[in-house]
Amino acid sequence: MRPLRLGVNVDHVATLRNARGGTHPDPLAAARAALAAGADSITIHLREDRRHIRDADCQAMRAALTAPINLEMAATAEMEAIATALRPHACCLVPERRAELTTEGGLDAAGHAESLAPVIAALGAAGIRVSLFLDPDLRQVEAAARLGARAVELHTGTFCEAGGDARRRELDRLAEAARRVDALGMECHAGHGLDYDTAPLLAAIPEVVELNIGHFLIGQALFDGLPAAVRRMRAVMDGVRRP
Ligand code: PXP
Repeated sequence: MRPLRLGVNVDHVATLRNARGGTHPDPLAAARAALAAGADSITIHLREDRRHIRDADCQAMRAALTAPINLEMAATAEMEAIATALRPHACCLVPERRAELTTEGGLDAAGHAESLAPVIAALGAAGIRVSLFLDPDLRQVEAAARLGARAVELHTGTFCEAGGDARRRELDRLAEAARRVDALGMECHAGHGLDYDTAPLLAAIPEVVELNIGHFLIGQALFDGLPAAVRRMRAVMDGVRRP
């Protein structure tokens, strides 16, 4: 089995900080704690409305961390300019609507190929590994390959919210999409809504090499502390995929 990396998304540390407008809790300090506890990389989403992570957070993380940073962003000219100047290890292109509470679905790579292609090319030319956040839909996966994406992150939100047969069907879709991502020569990542119960089910799909997890870990950190929450998630993942 291939190793499975854990990317910890620290957006919601910034959500809490911004609630009071000060500097505490510091997302950079959370990133350091997550890495020390076994995370492989740090994920941050710079949204158009800057509701959590802000430009200064991106710069502080880039300056201070040697571990890979995965910048989630919309495929806009503003974000392309920020990313090519920042040069994080990776960018994950996500759809973004101002009114949504969180990223609600995958990108329509097949329908928006023309507008995505130049952004993917510009990020790639800056040496950034580009992934596309997609629903587990083979048509979208094939579009990502045609667009030259190096990775696909499969949206696990529907799976995490479903129960019973619907959950099993969604897990089958994720496994099939993961096989296609891998067969097309891209890395397969997964994320959204994962917790201690759902992460191992994704870890059992051998083609998945990275999980990006945020909201659950930051919430769990209120009870157990962030290092303990990250260590437990690592143990849960490693229980299925020994490194
Ligand atoms: N991956 C992507 C592309 C996302 O947009 C998000 C949410 O920002 C996550 C992973 C993490 O999701 P969650 O916070 O639900 O763990």
